[in-house]
Amino acid sequence: MESMGNLRRTNMCNDLRMGDIEKEVILMGWVQKRRNLGGLIFVDLRDVTGLLQIVFDTDVNKEAFEKAETLRGEYVIAVKGKVKERESKNPDMETGDVEVYADELRILDTAETPPIYVKDNDDVQEQMRLKYRFLDLRKPSMQKKLLTRAKMNNVIRNYMFENSFNEIETPYLTKPTPEGARDYLVPSRVNEGKFYALPQSPQLFKQLLMVSGFNRYYQIVRCFRDEDLRANRQPEFTQLDCEMSFVDVEDVIAINEKLIAKIFKEVKGIDIQLPIKRMSYQTAMDKYGSDKPDLRFGYEINDISEVFANSTFNAFKSTVEGGGKVKCIKIDGSADDFSKKGLSNLEKFVKTCGAKALAWFKLKNGVVESPIAKFLAESELEALKDKMNLEEKDIIFVIADKNSVVSTALGALRTKIAHSKNLISNDVFELVWITEFPLFEYDEEENRFVAKHHPFTAPIDEDIDKLETSPETCRAKAYDIVINGDEIGGGSIRINNSTLQNRMFRALGLSEEEANEKFGFLLEAFKYGVPPHGGIAYGLDRFTMLMTGTDNIRDVIAFPKTQSASCLMTNAPCEANNKQLSELSIKVDIQE
Ligand code: AMO
Repeated sequence: MESMGNLRRTNMCNDLRMGDIEKEVILMGWVQKRRNLGGLIFVDLRDVTGLLQIVFDTDVNKEAFEKAETLRGEYVIAVKGKVKERESKNPDMETGDVEVYADELRILDTAETPPIYVKDNDDVQEQMRLKYRFLDLRKPSMQKKLLTRAKMNNVIRNYMFENSFNEIETPYLTKPTPEGARDYLVPSRVNEGKFYALPQSPQLFKQLLMVSGFNRYYQIVRCFRDEDLRANRQPEFTQLDCEMSFVDVEDVIAINEKLIAKIFKEVKGIDIQLPIKRMSYQTAMDKYGSDKPDLRFGYEINDISEVFANSTFNAFKSTVEGGGKVKCIKIDGSADDFSKKGLSNLEKFVKTCGAKALAWFKLKNGVVESPIAKFLAESELEALKDKMNLEEKDIIFVIADKNSVVSTALGALRTKIAHSKNLISNDVFELVWITEFPLFEYDEEENRFVAKHHPFTAPIDEDIDKLETSPETCRAKAYDIVINGDEIGGGSIRINNSTLQNRMFRALGLSEEEANEKFGFLLEAFKYGVPPHGGIAYGLDRFTMLMTGTDNIRDVIAFPKTQSASCLMTNAPCEANNKQLSELSIKVDIQE
C-alpha cells in the first residue's frame, strides 16, 4: 500500500470535459472496472461525482502500467495524468468525451472481492444490501438519493433562516410525548427503575419554546415511534418540525406552501402552482375514501344510495334502510379491460378491505349488464345509467355497506385500478392541503373519544361550544399536506388557554391528575401567558422519497432498519450483558 505522499486531488471525476484537454490533473477514488487491451489498460475511476476513464499506456509510463495490471474492483487509487480527447466517445457517461492518460499511479488501499456488486440495478436481495450497507451506499443511485436529501436540508435551512425561524434543539431523553404510538424507553442508571421515553416528536417542547417567546422555531429532528412498520414508516425517522407564534391556520399554510414550492423548484426544477389546492377532510373521505387522496387520477366515489333506496335487490335496500351507503366508482370506457378472473380478483381485494362483496355494472350496446341485473327493476338500471352518465363501455364498481367500509374499500380499489392501468407516474405531483379534520375520533377498543391529531390541537372557533355536547361533530384547526396520496406533513393551531385545554382533556376522558401526570410541565407553563401558536411537521424521509422517486423509505436513509426494526449491518438491537443489566436494575424475563 502506498500513501498519498504529496499528491492532492485537483479535480473530481465528473469535473472533466472537453474544455480541460491537456490539463494535468490528480484524481482519487475507487476502481469501478478494469479492462486490459494489450498495451493499454482502461480503468473506470469512481468518486462521489461520477465516473471517468483512466488510461494506462506502456508508452506513457511503464511503471504505472505494470502497477495498473494488479488493480481490482474497489481498490482505492490516486492517479496523476493528462486529460485527452477520447477516440471512441461514450455518450452514456457524463465524462464520456475525455479520458486521463496516467503517468503516475498510487494504490492507496486494496479491497477484497465485495459480497455485493457496486452497481446500479443489480437485483441482489435487500437483506444483503442492508448487511453491506457501506458498499450499497457506494452505488451512484444510492448516493444520488442521499445527496438529494442533503440538498433538501440545505434548501430548508436557508428558507427557515431567511424567514426568521430559529433552529433550537430539544431533548431525546425525555417523557412520553402525545403522538399516540408506542414509546421507545431508555432505562436510567442513576434513577433506578425509571425510564426516559425517546420523543415521538418535539411537540410539547416546541410549544414551550413559543411560551418562552422564541416566536419562530424549527428543527430537523429525529423522532422515535415503536409502531407497525410499513413501506413508508421507520422506527426512527426525521421530521422538519416548525412552530410559530401569533398565527392562525392561514398564516402557517402560507409560509409553508412557499417552502414546499421552493423545495420542488430547487430540487426538481418543478414550479408548483400556489396556492396549493385545499380539500376538507369530509370531502376527501366522501370523494376518495381517504384523508390522503391520490389526485393523480380521477375515479371519484359517487353516492348512489338514493337510486337503490327502494331496490328490489335486498342487499342494497337493507343496507340503505340500515343507515349504510351504496357507492361506486366509474372507470370510463374500460369495460373490456376486466376479464372474469380480473373481476373476481378485484372482489377478493375489496374483501381484504372489509367489504362483503363487489358488484359491477357495464354499458354494452346500450344495455346495462351485471351479474345482479336480474335482481333489479328496469327502472333502477335506467336510474343508475342516468345518475352515473353511463356511456358505452363504461364500467362501475359498487359496494353497499357501512359508510366507513364503503369508503375505505372503494378508496383502495380506485388506487389499485389506477395502478393496474399505469395511471400513476412518479414524475407527476398532485399536492393538496386536507383541512377541517375531526377533533376527535372514537376508539372502539378503549370505548372513548381520543384526539385525532393530539390533545393540544385547537377546535375551529365555531365548534368550541360543541366540545361537551357533540364532540363527534367538532372540527379541528388541523391540516395535512398530502402529495400523491402520501401524508407528507401535518400540523395544527394549538390551544393557548388553560380553560379550553382543560375542557379538551375532560372531553378526552382525562382526569386532572392524569393530565398533570402526563403533561404537567406544559400545563404549568400555560399559566404564565401563552401566545396563540401553531405549526407543522413534515416527514422528511417521505418528502425525500417523493423527490427521488422511490417507494422504499429505506432508500433515502443511510442506515435504515428492517420491517422488524433491526439493523442488519450492526445487528442492533442486541442483548445487554449482565453487568449493564444489573447496573440498570433490570432483569430480562422473556415469556414463551
Ligand atoms: P405527525 O404525527 O403527523 O405530527 O407526524 C408528522 C409527519 O411525520 C411523518 N411520519 C413518519 N415518517 C416515517 N416513519 C414514521 N413512523 C412516521 N410517522 C410519522 C409523516 C407525518 O405527516 N407533532 C406533530 C406535528 C405538529 O402538530 O406540528 C406530529 O408529529 O409524514
